Amino acid sequence: MKVIVLQDEAAIGQAVGGLFCEAVRQKPDAVLGLATGASPIPAYQHMISQYKAGEVSFRGVTTFNLDEYCGLPEEHPNSYRSFMRAELFGQIDILPENTHFLDGNTADERAESERFRALIEQCGGIDLQLLGIGRNGHIGFNEPAEAFTQEAFKAALTPSTIAANSVYFTDIPMPEYAMTMGVGSILRAKKIVLVATGSAKADAVKAMLEGEITPRCPASALQGHADVTVCLDTAAAALLQK
Ligand code: PGA
Repeated sequence: MKVIVLQDEAAIGQAVGGLFCEAVRQKPDAVLGLATGASPIPAYQHMISQYKAGEVSFRGVTTFNLDEYCGLPEEHPNSYRSFMRAELFGQIDILPENTHFLDGNTADERAESERFRALIEQCGGIDLQLLGIGRNGHIGFNEPAEAFTQEAFKAALTPSTIAANSVYFTDIPMPEYAMTMGVGSILRAKKIVLVATGSAKADAVKAMLEGEITPRCPASALQGHADVTVCLDTAAAALLQK
């Protein structure tokens, strides 16, 4: 895996957002895998500023998001659909019908998983996937487990994830389940860029890059992918061997 350490979030946003803009300039109908949470926001801000400057258009782009909470109406401000509309889609020229999400409120998780898998395949696969990493080493909502997950499924969130994300839920309790792409589906992306910032991620980053490949650290599966770039700030990189 290629590791890039940058000074701060702004530099990471420019570098990672720049990779996404370049991918779209090279292939205007690119298929992008997108993530939510705090880590991707600087990259999204860079993409928005490049769009506003006329440097890139997302009109031909298709996106697939990694995950969505269960039991939350789509319109709720904390749904990942709402997040993406607020942080990126509402500020660029992407066509809403080309932005795809897992349905967290599906009554048939297996059918929903298969729908998503088939749709990604039909679009030619994901060209460039953006990831964050959880403090416990999760990617998407693939929490530490006994075995690596494959296709999308309904995940029970761990106390660590609930503690990290419940700060965003002020009106209702945070959902305890989410539909998420599996590790197997994530690894099918042609290229992957993972962003981690802050000292709370340092242990997980070390385990991902320098630990054994184990489902106890789902992000360690990325060691088996041929084209992964990891963008870190100095705090997230602090425990790595020099
Ligand atoms: P964060 O979440 O970017 O909000 O830290 C990342 C993740 O949990 O994957």
